[in-house]
Formats: sequence, C-alpha cells, structure tokens
Amino acid sequence: KDTRRLIAVSNRLPIVVKEEDGRWQLEAGAGGLVTALSPVLKGHRGMWIGWPGCDEAAPLDELVGRFAAEEGYGLGTVPLTQEEVEEYYEGFSNMTLWPLFHDLLGLCQFNPRHWEAYVKVNRRFAEVTATRVEEEDLIWVQDYQLMLMGGRLRELGVKNPLAFFLHIPFPSLDLFRRLPWKMEILRGLLEFDLVGFQTLRDRRNFVACARELLPELRAEVRRRTTLLRWDEREIRVGHFPISIDFSEFNNHARSRDVADAAWYLHEHYENRQLILGVDRLDYTKGIPERLLAFERALERYPELHGKMNLVQIVVPSRTQVPEYQLLKDQLDQLAGRINARFGQAGWIPIHYMFRSLDRVQLLAHYRAAEIALITPLRDGMNLVAKEYCAASVDNNGVLILSEFAGAAEELGKGAVLVNPYDIDGTAEAIRRACTMEQGERQRRMRMLRASVQRNNVHRWVEYFVNSL
Ligand code: UDP
Ligand code: G6P
Repeated sequence: KDTRRLIAVSNRLPIVVKEEDGRWQLEAGAGGLVTALSPVLKGHRGMWIGWPGCDEAAPLDELVGRFAAEEGYGLGTVPLTQEEVEEYYEGFSNMTLWPLFHDLLGLCQFNPRHWEAYVKVNRRFAEVTATRVEEEDLIWVQDYQLMLMGGRLRELGVKNPLAFFLHIPFPSLDLFRRLPWKMEILRGLLEFDLVGFQTLRDRRNFVACARELLPELRAEVRRRTTLLRWDEREIRVGHFPISIDFSEFNNHARSRDVADAAWYLHEHYENRQLILGVDRLDYTKGIPERLLAFERALERYPELHGKMNLVQIVVPSRTQVPEYQLLKDQLDQLAGRINARFGQAGWIPIHYMFRSLDRVQLLAHYRAAEIALITPLRDGMNLVAKEYCAASVDNNGVLILSEFAGAAEELGKGAVLVNPYDIDGTAEAIRRACTMEQGERQRRMRMLRASVQRNNVHRWVEYFVNSL
C-alpha cells in the first residue's frame, strides 16, 4: 500500500460555508466528486484543497479546524470573490467547459473575460497548493475546473508527482477543436505526469486530440496506459472508472434507520412500484426526456395506471447559471402537466422534489425503489447508478440506465440500457422493468452488485496511484 500523503485539489470541497441569519454554517457539498473522494481522503493521511463556497470574510480557520478534527484529514481553502465565482466557476467552468465536454455545443459561451478569470483562479489554486505540500506528497488535481494548475505548479518549482483526473467526459476532436483556448488546455493537461479519464472512450478522445493538434507529440500504447512523449517529458494517460465505497453504502442500507425509513416508504406506496430518479439539477441528466418517457408509458400502457409512481428528486445546483434556471422552470411545468393529465383520486403519478436528501433518506429511497430510472444524455460516470446497486440489499431492484453514462461500460450487462433520446424505447423499458419476473430481477441485481463491490473506490485509488 502506498503511504505517501495525498494532496487532493478540487474546486468543490466536501463542505460549503454559508452565512445564514448572521451565523456561519457548514453544509455538505453535493455531487459525485465529493461522494467518491470523501472515503479516499479518510483512508489516507492528507489534505483536501478547494473552494469553501465563500469569500475571505468567513472565519475559515475555526470552521475548518472543527472539520479536520472530526474527519481525520485537513482542509486547505481557496476563497473566491463574487466576481471570480461568476467568471471562473459559473462562466468558464459551467457555461463553456461543462456543456462542451458533454457534447452540447449549442449551450456553450466563449467569453474571453471568463477565460482570463479561469487562468487567474487556476494560478491561485496552484499557489495555495504549493505552500501546503511537503516533499513526499502526491498532488492529485481533480476535474475540469482546474485543468491549468499543473503548469503553474511547475513554474513555482514544485517537484512532486502531479496527477490529474477528469470526472466528466472528454469530447471528440470535432468538438474540442471548437474551443478557442484548446491549445492552452491541451498543453496544460500535458504538464501532469499522469492524466486519468473515466472511460476508454474519453482516453481515446484525448489521445486523438493531442496527436492531431500537436504533430510532434509521440504516443505509444502500453498495457494499461498510453505513453505520450512531448516536450522532453513522458506523460501517462489511462482510464480509471471511478466508484463508491461499496461497503459503506451496503452496510448503511442494512441499518435500522434506513430499514425503518424504507419500510415507511413502502407503506406509503403500497401496491405500487416505486420508480426513482435522483439527479443534481442539470441539463445533462436528461430529466425532461425522462418525464416524457414516463408520460409515453402512461399513454401506451394503461394497465400501468395506479400501479407505479415516479419519485424524482432534483438536488439544487448552479442555480445562478441561466440554463439551470430555465431547466428548473421546464421541470416544474412538465411534472405539473403530466400529473394533471393522468392523475386520479388517490394517485398522483409523479412525486417531484426539488431539494437535497440526507444519507438515511437517500438510502431509504434507493432501498425501497423497485426501479431506478437513470437517463443522462451524457455523464462522466454517474454514481447514483452505483449507489442504487449497493443499496439494493434485497436484490430486487431493476436499473434502467442510459447507454451514454460512463457507468454503462461496467453495468451494461445487468442493467436495462436505454437511449434517452428515444422516448418510445425508454417508455418500453419502463414497462419491461415493471413487469420483469422476480428471478430475472434477482439475477441482474446480483451481477450489478458484484461488479460495484469488486470495482469500488478504494480499488480505483490503488489502481490510479500505482499507475504513477
Ligand atoms: N447526492 C447528494 N445530495 C442529495 C442526493 C444525492 O449529494 O441530496 C449525491 C449522490 O449520492 C451522488 C452524487 O450526489 O453521490 C451525484 O453523483 P453523480 O455521479 O450521479 O452525478 P454528478 O452530480 O456528480 O453529476
Ligand atoms: C460534477 C462535477 C464536479 C462537481 C459536481 C457538483 O460531479 O464533475 O466537479 O463538483 O458535479 O457540481 P458543483 O458545481 O456544485 O461543484
């Protein structure tokens, strides 16, 4: 086992510092990156550096000190001003890179001011990191918000091994070349010693972009990684599908608290199958398409009326970005329309919640749901799919999964795969899942659980760190 100290750097920390009614509060950070990295940091001595969700005015030392004592690892904070949040985070990260890397070119803005802020904030993250590293540490930068950190760390004379992992997809050459700053991003990524992606497709896209845009670069496919030679350096590129702490989810799902809460849900949805969707509010998640597919299923298969409920949980996210506000309005409207069309006394087809859930409630929903309906248009991995399997301790859930989620590469055999753009096909998958025999459900879920258990997040770290 590797005993070097791990310095993880990401934009989002596991906590968000907020001021409410004049008091400073800590809230949990949401999203797959936080879920995956939290158990990793707990397992290593180390530190997690990132944006605490606030500016410099917060009493950060005190708040963060409390956290470190409880969790067993330190936090380094990079506060951001309101303007930086707007230009670097909401702007370049989430109005340019996020849609582009999820193949949604039409939603991209290319604003030079946003780019400048991205460069500046990446430099600052590197400067803060440089003051915290010790000789033997491994520096591991996470995700699309920080792709330029490597270069600045080198300029600052940091000699530690530098690794990078991209949690979201990497686009094809055709899309990537649209980015006015593609060369800077590409060269920035090549400053790391190891660059990791979620899937083989992402890795191949990246290597194809590097070869095409940098003709002098040499690429050689090795057993596990591709070795790039560029600018007298060697860079390893690999794919390392991220995962969850299987035992944590599995054990917690069996706990008394969760069993009670799941029982309560069962009683509430008595004699009906519970179909569950859990997503951050995001246009990549295919939530409107999912609601339309559910509506189509109600249209086509009247025998399902009164026999199922779609419980859709939407976790608020990036609410200052206009596209996210539009999506929120669209969802409110769609859910209302479908319920008005098909609802009857005693049966409202869609239960739609716009809020986050605590762990016990989340696990209870996973455990109680007969079907999970996970239909992103494009997703780096999708940990909700893996969490659903880990929490399906009675082996009787059916996972309906988009073929465009990274998770489909590993879970494709046990899941019912759908193309989320194909509304009829998804409606048919819903019917199929609702009527699937117990034996087949069990067989599929056993396969899925075994796969998530084997490829858990601890193995992901080990595999990644060993490739350095
Ligand atoms: N999640 C959360 N708060 C909630 C409900 C869910 O933080 O109220 C978590 C969920 O458990 C999962 C993560 O958010 O770990 C979503 O990760 P995923 O990879 O599915 O998508 P992402 O949000 O990272 O795009
Ligand atoms: C995705 C990204 C993460 C991000 C998370 C939540 O998982 O890959 O980098 O942290 O979404 O989004 P947010 O903008 O709130 O950090």
